[in-house]
This record gives sequence, structure tokens and C-alpha cells, in this order.
Amino acid sequence: MVEMHKPFSIPEKARVEWLGCMRELLEELNISDEAKQEFWDYCEVFSKHMVNKSTNLEAHMSLADHR
Ligand code: HEM
Repeated sequence: MVEMHKPFSIPEKARVEWLGCMRELLEELNISDEAKQEFWDYCEVFSKHMVNKSTNLEAHMSLADHR
């Protein structure tokens, strides 16, 4: 899945957008709240692996971390 997304530039902002779409979809589904929460938790972690472009803020923060 990570490989499939490499041609695209995906910053954290895109991840937040993606999760927003997933939330809208989950809210419409007729499944238990527990199942929704479980799938949401999975997406929240999994989606981090798709981010392949750091934002200026992250670059700045990682620089600060190494001081
Ligand atoms: C953190 C952000 C993202 C996540 C977590 C994510 C996750 C996924 C997942 C789970 C699929 C597979 C859907 C399936 O089962 O068929 C998928 C497919 C795809 N995603 Fe993303 N995606 C993200 C952002 C993006 C962005 C920003 C783009 C393009 C600008 C993109 C382009 C695609 C394309 C083209 C496919 C279809 C590939 C194919 O089936 O041939 N994704 N993505």
C-alpha cells in the first residue's frame, strides 16, 4: 500500500483530509459504535504510513529535536 502511494505527494494535511472522509463514511454505516471505533483506531495508525512528505513545520521541529 505504501508502495502504491509513492507516486503521490502526501503530507500530514492530506492524511487529515483522508481521515475526515473516512469519518464521514463511518458515521453513515449501520454497524456498532464499537466496530466503528475499532476500525477508526486502525485507520488512524495505518494512515501514518502513507505520509511521505514532511511539512515545513515538521522539518523545523525535527531540526529542533536534534539540538
Ligand atoms: C494518508 C493518506 C492516505 C491513505 C491512508 C490512503 C489509503 C488508501 C487505501 C487504503 C487504498 C486502497 C483502497 C482499496 O482497498 O482499493 C488507497 C488507494 C488509492 N489511493 Fe490512497 N490513501 C491516502 C492518500 C492518497 C492520496 C493523497 C492520493 C493521491 C493524490 C491517493 C491515491 C490513491 C489511489 C490512486 C488509489 C487506488 C489505487 C488502485 O486501486 O489502483 N491516496 N489509498
